[in-house]
Amino acid sequence: MSFYLTTPIYYVNSTPHIGHAYTTIAADILVRHHRQRGEETFFLTGVDEHADKVARVAAEQGLEPQEYVEQIVVAWQELPARVNASIDYFIRTTDEGHKRFVQDFLQRVYDNGDVYQDVYAGLYCVGCEAFKTDDDLVDGKCPDHGVEPEWIEEKNWFFRLSSYQEKLLALYEARPDFVLPGFRANEAKSFIARGLRDFSISRATQTWGIPIPWDPDQVAYVWADALVNYLSALSYAPGADRRLWPARHLLAKDILRFHCVYWPALLLSAGYEVPEQLFVHGYLNLEDRKISKSLGNVVDPLDLIDEYGVDPVRFWVARVVPFGQDGNVTLDGFRERYEGELGNDLGNLLSRTTAMIARYRDGELREAPDDQGELAAAARTVHEDVPAALDRFDITGALETIWDYVRRLNRYVEQTKPWELAKDPDREADLDRALYELADGLRIAAVALSAYLPETATQILAALGQSTDIAWEHVAYGRTAPVSGIEAAPPLFPRIDAPAIA
Ligand code: MSP
Repeated sequence: MSFYLTTPIYYVNSTPHIGHAYTTIAADILVRHHRQRGEETFFLTGVDEHADKVARVAAEQGLEPQEYVEQIVVAWQELPARVNASIDYFIRTTDEGHKRFVQDFLQRVYDNGDVYQDVYAGLYCVGCEAFKTDDDLVDGKCPDHGVEPEWIEEKNWFFRLSSYQEKLLALYEARPDFVLPGFRANEAKSFIARGLRDFSISRATQTWGIPIPWDPDQVAYVWADALVNYLSALSYAPGADRRLWPARHLLAKDILRFHCVYWPALLLSAGYEVPEQLFVHGYLNLEDRKISKSLGNVVDPLDLIDEYGVDPVRFWVARVVPFGQDGNVTLDGFRERYEGELGNDLGNLLSRTTAMIARYRDGELREAPDDQGELAAAARTVHEDVPAALDRFDITGALETIWDYVRRLNRYVEQTKPWELAKDPDREADLDRALYELADGLRIAAVALSAYLPETATQILAALGQSTDIAWEHVAYGRTAPVSGIEAAPPLFPRIDAPAIA
């Protein structure tokens, strides 16, 4: 079984912000989890370079588009590395392999009779890189970008999207989980049912792009180029393989139509299988406004990571808003979770547990499992419920299940009071059991959390002297090995008293 997951390829007209990090981190959590389950995984991300808006920014800076993208791509390549995303390939739409593949792909669509020439006279929003109708506008403006679209009139090559209406509806009918969450599938379906208009797959007035194979005076429309990345990568990325197709796509609601309607139709036309599944998540809004460069309220994810470390940012992304819904976020909320949940619930639990083992047992953890105990049952819940939630892309729900377990361990400390057991020579066995339960619980939590908090998980396992094998089968009660030499662990999430980021 293989799990091939993609993020959108991001526009390089500016540098990454926390909204882009959001999708990349969410994707990484899913991929790491599937890897823990022993599946073959492939994780693709990258950048979308041939946009009109990219050419315009280059021109503003007095650069050729190619020169400009060579400079800015560095900031984008840094993003997955800094958020600790375990990607397999970073695709650029200026890659030679991609360009060749797109030409071949469009030729197949053309050969299939789905392309004709016509004049496009209408509106175009450069922010969306999309043709707009009056229905798409609010007070004459694009609601996503707050600007009036431009009027363009040019002779283009059109794709017969309209002739795919019935096939697409049948696809949605046959595969109720094709697009998740369900309300997003309904959105796509009603868009299709309202009637599909053919769309232009070429641009005549632009030179920055991939030449149309049968008419090299025009370049491919940026979406007809960008969407194909998900497939083209498999033809040349090292370690990739055509057999990984069909992919699962992660994206936000801003680009639902392109992914859930245009892309399956283009694939059917070119003779490829449609995607395995698409998950459409919501927007993170900072202090009630969509985070976007044009609105000027961006948070640089790298600043947050510099200050707090990468795992707290990953944790926050997964936890702050139920994945799939829109949500308002604040930096204060981030700090509260850092201190309360990471610092207290998890960090203190490790500090206390290791300190007690060091103090009462001279660093020796003895084997004393209690298979009938409550914690054994709680571990089974984590083992079963987390994969089930992640199979629905519910990274928030799965994390809540793990956090319930972490909180359960904290209650266990309060209930058993090991510091009192340590005073009573008749309760040696009870003390050993309590310490074992806590160490085992922390080990289980670490393995379960490792998709979310890869660095922290390794630190916890090392502090407990346990194997760093994170295969999902180790999310099971009583597998903690007896060891000696455990020392009181330093805090996992130290307090940061004067945060530099306002
Ligand atoms: N280049 C196109 C995608 C082509 S894919 C074949 C594009 N690029 S983009 O840079 O605008 O990225 C949009 C994506 O970035 C969203 O779909 C989402 O994944 C992510 N996000 C950007 N801002 C975001 C938020 N404020 N909140 C959540 N996700 C955000 O569209």
